[in-house]
Amino acid sequence: MTRPDTRQEEGAQPARRPVLDGRRDRERVRTVIIPDHGDLERLLADRLVEVIARETARRGRCVLGLATGSTPLGIYRELIRRFQAGGVDFSQVVTFNLDEYYPMRPDSPHSYRRYMWENLFDHVNVKPENVHIPDGGTPRERLAEQCAAYERAIAEAGGIDFQILGIGKSGHIGFNEPGSSPGSRTRLVTLDTITRKDAGADFFGEDNVPREAITMGVATILEAREIALIATGEHKAAIVQHAVEGEVSPDVAASFLQGHPNATVYLDVAAAAELTRVKTPWLLEPVEWTPALTEVAVVWLAEQSGSPSRRARRSSSSAPVTTPSTI
Ligand code: GLP
Repeated sequence: MTRPDTRQEEGAQPARRPVLDGRRDRERVRTVIIPDHGDLERLLADRLVEVIARETARRGRCVLGLATGSTPLGIYRELIRRFQAGGVDFSQVVTFNLDEYYPMRPDSPHSYRRYMWENLFDHVNVKPENVHIPDGGTPRERLAEQCAAYERAIAEAGGIDFQILGIGKSGHIGFNEPGSSPGSRTRLVTLDTITRKDAGADFFGEDNVPREAITMGVATILEAREIALIATGEHKAAIVQHAVEGEVSPDVAASFLQGHPNATVYLDVAAAAELTRVKTPWLLEPVEWTPALTEVAVVWLAEQSGSPSRRARRSSSSAPVTTPSTI
């Protein structure tokens, strides 16, 4: 892939250096920054098509872990395009979705079941009996049994070959909200306030967002043989920084990916904006001090050591305090 030209038009934000390269010392999980959304979607679709072809040839089936939300929509569109062009066959693909709101009628327009059929399954040749989505219509007294059956079905399918993940602003993967343990399994959870607030628009108001959900656990997710976490947009930048550069902690379930041998985080430039290699690259390696980068560094330094209001902003950032001599 060619290095992007990150120069900006006059009057726009100061230019940043290309972000595909650079030292990654602070990143604790493999992280790829892809400036163009089309490239990101094609790259992920390529990877999925490869895994589907490889696993169906090798053992007659491929097991995918799938996510909902706005992030994977472009990837699903690209997969549909590939299918229509004869580039991928879903007839031996088995799918397991990460989560579903609870309670949720499966035919509700808000259900993740409906989302998956509308945005992917209706348009490819997946067999309905190979599709698994937690059932938000299960009576409460049968939930524990349903969750255990979901885990068994994943194991009986031979485990997940490739798991797609988004990340919530609470740091959740699936609906594993802050406090989820690394050993957690498919279960009923209470949704975080941040998550319900974020989902408010989809439900015509936060009050209509279900308070609970069924989700695969962190341990269920980490058993996938390959994992791709995808995040786009500046609203994800802060939580992505915690997940990629922060300590592994139940406070940010996505940070558990740091312990996985084959997990990759795919970001657009906006979601990568708080990573050290993008935000403060001079902390990692010598940089070419263009006037624009110098200006960025001076503002950053002022934020580190400046006025009380800037101190307040600093306390919400995990960037380390650095003396002028470091720059
Ligand atoms: C929901 C889903 C998650 C998803 C997250 C991010 O909470 N349960 O699996 O990753 O939303 O959504 P979006 O991609 O719309 O930002």
